[in-house]
Amino acid sequence: MNKVSIIGAGNTGATAAHWLAERELADIVLVDVVEGMPQGKSLDMMEAMPIIGKDVKVIGTNNYADTKDSDIIIITAGVARKPGMSRDDLLKINADIVGTAATESLKFSPNAIFIVLTNPLDTMAYLTMKMTKLPRERVIGQAGILDSARMRAFVAMETGVSLENIQCYVLGGHGDEMVPLTRHSNIAGIPLNEYLPADKLEAIVNRTRKGGGEIVNLLKTGSAYYAPSLACVQMTEAILKDKKLIVPCAAYMNGEYGLNDMYFGVPCVLGAKGIERIIEYKFDDAEKAMFEKSAASVKETHEALKSLVTL
Ligand code: NAI
Ligand code: 2OP
Repeated sequence: MNKVSIIGAGNTGATAAHWLAERELADIVLVDVVEGMPQGKSLDMMEAMPIIGKDVKVIGTNNYADTKDSDIIIITAGVARKPGMSRDDLLKINADIVGTAATESLKFSPNAIFIVLTNPLDTMAYLTMKMTKLPRERVIGQAGILDSARMRAFVAMETGVSLENIQCYVLGGHGDEMVPLTRHSNIAGIPLNEYLPADKLEAIVNRTRKGGGEIVNLLKTGSAYYAPSLACVQMTEAILKDKKLIVPCAAYMNGEYGLNDMYFGVPCVLGAKGIERIIEYKFDDAEKAMFEKSAASVKETHEALKSLVTL
């Protein structure tokens, strides 16, 4: 059985464990600083397994030694956004938490692939790669699957068409400048910008960009977790099953799209080695301008990180 360790047993971490266990994808270790909580959640999940007949072990712990020889480490540890708090406000607190989670995990699982969820996402993925010194294939940020799924959900709500016919691609940074691609997104092959009138499409694009904040404002005590955790599980499954799945992920840019030394959301082929290839779309001028604006915003957060932490 594969082994997946999740650092941070809060809303996203525990729900990722739930989706993973339900799919019988791996044995799971939930790590948190809070004593008793990861142990309690994992025992509860173990007691659910007989009901669905899935033979997975779920362990809760406060000790990284229990993560030994994990195939995948999912980092969700950190502080979630509160109403009125931007993702970048989280930078300072979460940099310390994610840095420790990454380096401690690596000590026990030198061959693991890291999936990062903690915000500000692109910059936390950058921090993880720099601190672990792993090749870019093995440090992947989750944002694009979630942002694209939100857009797909909004398109389905607007059109009444089955989700199975709706493909959407949201690239760029995981922030308000993210890049929902309306020409590449489609319903049964028809580009979204041909299928929907401009005003409806603009409303969907805006709602997608603010999708995280919409949920924060509703929940009031935290941020989204069902869809974000499932997005991490889709990435995990693609890697464990060597699927060569093309999904938008935050990846280290090494000249792709004209970008360097930063994490950014681009279509990636996910397989056993992690990010096996980055796909480059051809952009028109308007798409290029959106992409560059989003990249500038992510770069700014990377620079803020570099002023706080020596990488
Ligand atoms: P949460 O507050 O429910 O869980 C976070 C957990 O991390 C808590 O249980 C906390 O005790 C734990 N933690 C804190 N410091 C730790 C440490 N040093 N070591 C181990 N565990 C530690 O928050 P939630 O909802 O799970 O969100 C987690 C992070 O993921 C936040 O930064 C949030 O903004 C981000 N997020 C990112 C998304 C994305 O698409 N990239 C989507 C949803 C959330
Ligand atoms: C989200 O998009 C908070 O980044 C998180 O839901």
